[in-house]
Amino acid sequence: NKIKDICEKFYKSKKISFEDFKFLMDLNEKDAEELYSFARKLAVKNFGKEIYIRGLIEISTYCKNNCYYCGLRNANKNAKRVRLSKDEILELAEHSVNLGIKTIVMQGGEDDFYYLEYLKEILREIKEKFKDVAITLSLGERDFKDFEVLKNIGADRYLLRHETFSKSHYERLHPSSMSFENRINSIYKLKELGFQTGCGMMIGSPFQNMRNLYDDLNFILKLKPQMVGIGPFIPQHDTPFRDFERGKLEDVLKILSIVRIADEKLLLPATTALGSIDDFGREKGILAGANVLMPNVGAEKLRKNYKLYDNKIGTQVENSDDFKGLEEKLNKIFYKISSERGDYNKER
Ligand code: 5AD
Ligand code: SF4
Repeated sequence: NKIKDICEKFYKSKKISFEDFKFLMDLNEKDAEELYSFARKLAVKNFGKEIYIRGLIEISTYCKNNCYYCGLRNANKNAKRVRLSKDEILELAEHSVNLGIKTIVMQGGEDDFYYLEYLKEILREIKEKFKDVAITLSLGERDFKDFEVLKNIGADRYLLRHETFSKSHYERLHPSSMSFENRINSIYKLKELGFQTGCGMMIGSPFQNMRNLYDDLNFILKLKPQMVGIGPFIPQHDTPFRDFERGKLEDVLKILSIVRIADEKLLLPATTALGSIDDFGREKGILAGANVLMPNVGAEKLRKNYKLYDNKIGTQVENSDDFKGLEEKLNKIFYKISSERGDYNKER
């Protein structure tokens, strides 16, 4: 059948025509199951029915940038700004480790409060205290020199979504103070420095078309990142993009599957944003080929305020620990939590 043939051909050759890509993206709900199942089998072949867990610590809601889509944009006067101290970060790292989590993700806006020396201290202490814990940074664009220093001090991975591989599209999502070239160069630099590197994009962001997504896919094939972060665009009411439609669940699932077929060993999270547009979004993501979950282990004071988009899961106070219940959720789809660190397991 045509769906399997396209998947098989893409899997073997790592090339796909725009027509075939569009064919997959246009599949109806029923036929799309074949695509998901092809990708899911690749994930199960490589990882079993085990999901890597990352403890997400949101360290700051301050940001100097003004991405048009994001609730933490500098110009948003309604965003509550909070940041964690070194001690608070260390405490949360310890909390994660106690939960059995072996990767800590420090995520934040582009906040110059965390200047290099301070970050170095934090990293050094985490590394010293928790020897076999992987550290992932998701702190936006920084000086290349900083990237290098952070790598040398022991940061293992870095997430920096490219957002779109089209310069003109990038410029419609960001003000002119942000440079498409610098974003892409930063990602290449991170990879060159030896970080396990993640790029990624929102699905259904304003002005995005099929060609953009096809170009994103080809960028991923060329870059060969170790991780790709993919989630739906979700409008946030205090941003210029408040009135745009959110990305579609099915589109996210299809892209997840296609990206899984592009690299069967890729670390591919079922993102919080995906879980925020559908009660079973993250489970559906896993069944479409994702193999990573990034529960928020962070402090409540930040969680409540870390609002990149509306109705984000885990921001309600009663949902005080995203980690709780995760095992049960996974068991319901016959998956379980992996106890491994979950590094990308191939030189590239
Ligand atoms: N909807 C979905 N994802 C968003 N991000 C920022 N704002 C939104 C939004 N409104 C994503 C961006 C960024 C990551 C940290 O969060 O892709 O890289
Ligand atoms: Fe800042 Fe990141 Fe939000 Fe852009 S997406 S405004 S860089 S926190």
